[in-house]
Amino acid sequence: MKDTSQIIVGKAKLEVADKTAEFPILQGTDGKMGIDIANLRAQTGVIAFDNGFNNTTSTLSGISFIDGENGILRYRGYAIEDLFNYASFREVAYLMVSGKLPTLREVKQFSVYLTEHSMIDEDMHHFFAGFPRTAHPMAILAAMVTSLSSFYPEITHDDSNFDEIAARLISKVRTIAAYSYKKSRGYPVVYPQAKLSYVENFLNMMFDTPNSPYDIKSEEHQIHAKILDKILILHADHGQNCSTTAVKLVGSARANLYAAVSAGICALWGPLHGGANQAVIEMLENIKKDGANVNKYIEDAKTKNFRLMGFGHALYKSYDPRAALAKELLDELTQKCKINEPLFEIAQDLERRVLADDYFIERKLYPNIDFYTGIIYKALGIPTNMLTVMFVLGRLPGWIAQWRELMGNGIKIFRPRQIYTGPGAIEYVQLEDR
Ligand code: CMC
Repeated sequence: MKDTSQIIVGKAKLEVADKTAEFPILQGTDGKMGIDIANLRAQTGVIAFDNGFNNTTSTLSGISFIDGENGILRYRGYAIEDLFNYASFREVAYLMVSGKLPTLREVKQFSVYLTEHSMIDEDMHHFFAGFPRTAHPMAILAAMVTSLSSFYPEITHDDSNFDEIAARLISKVRTIAAYSYKKSRGYPVVYPQAKLSYVENFLNMMFDTPNSPYDIKSEEHQIHAKILDKILILHADHGQNCSTTAVKLVGSARANLYAAVSAGICALWGPLHGGANQAVIEMLENIKKDGANVNKYIEDAKTKNFRLMGFGHALYKSYDPRAALAKELLDELTQKCKINEPLFEIAQDLERRVLADDYFIERKLYPNIDFYTGIIYKALGIPTNMLTVMFVLGRLPGWIAQWRELMGNGIKIFRPRQIYTGPGAIEYVQLEDR
């Protein structure tokens, strides 16, 4: 673990039965403090219990800053709004993995890397053939990303050409993502093209078919590419969330980065996390089928048998700044491309009612990033089962950056303890006597 002595600002005292113990208080650059309880058990014989680790960290991190009370998000110090308005996803990916915004020369070089490494080994194509047509693209993606470790060299955090290595992974995961979709449709894959940008290539690999060529340079598809580029920026990192923690947990055992990213993909798949964007669309479609009876769903959510997908966040107790920007994108898309998406109207109605309802006001439940991104993806023609894959593409630079930071900090293996609640010692009974 990185030396914490520089950030100790005081001591906390804890009394446990007849023992008094003292622990260092650490302070981050944002002024927030944490108690270093690494020696809690050694000093007092007890451990800390924290359901869901919501009040715990084992990480010092300088990547994303989140102020959930005030709806502020920054990547490496830069406001999400500025990156969204002025930067490209390539620049943000570079910012994540290298720690600074690229110069013009650096971003050009990063683009060259993204292009050069876009193909995957032809032998990997056989793997796609083995999945059933009904396979979820997230299942294919997770398996294929682990498989990359068999084809490409191991990645170490201190590689001198880390930018290129990161670009290689980012580029190949994008290609695998598009191939996963083609597989689920039973269509032939479309190879990446060197003349297209990262996002253009993705859209082309998704939508070009032998009988219906996709014109990525058309005015409409250029708008789609621009919108997609912006959404990916919104996903790029988000502190120590569930999937990032999964990446780090696996990485802490010194498993390779491909395995760690694959773990992140599996965690992100869950509907309480990145899978919420798919769940939002499914929920809105159900509301539509039910005659747009939004109130029924709101009332159901209050009974706790059902959660309104796309609402609430573990950290944001005000409007998720990413959701606000996604909503802007959706407005831009609907205006410029004349999209008439009935789910959008239902979503707006749902949001309006939720924001005026005491149940949600008291619990500080606002739309989160997944509420509007799912509708945008749908409007771009991306099928529902690919929505969480899109989240992966955006989050990958963040996962790589967080993994690299952790490895550079000389980490210990993550090894939480437990409060045992099972039976005491039981005498073994032979099979014939049970
Ligand atoms: N619909 C209805 N009630 C909710 C919801 C919701 N979406 N979210 C939380 N609540 C209620 C919950 O029942 C609880 O009520 P009470 O205090 O009466 O018991 C209260 O709000 C607090 O809930 P919690 O589960 O303690 O809150 P949390 O901060 O641990 O959960 C969450 C965060 C995102 C898991 C949760 O809000 C949720 O399940 N949302 C729906 C799924 C979703 O949209 N996930 C995407 C999150 S953003 C993308 C990402 O980064 O993963």
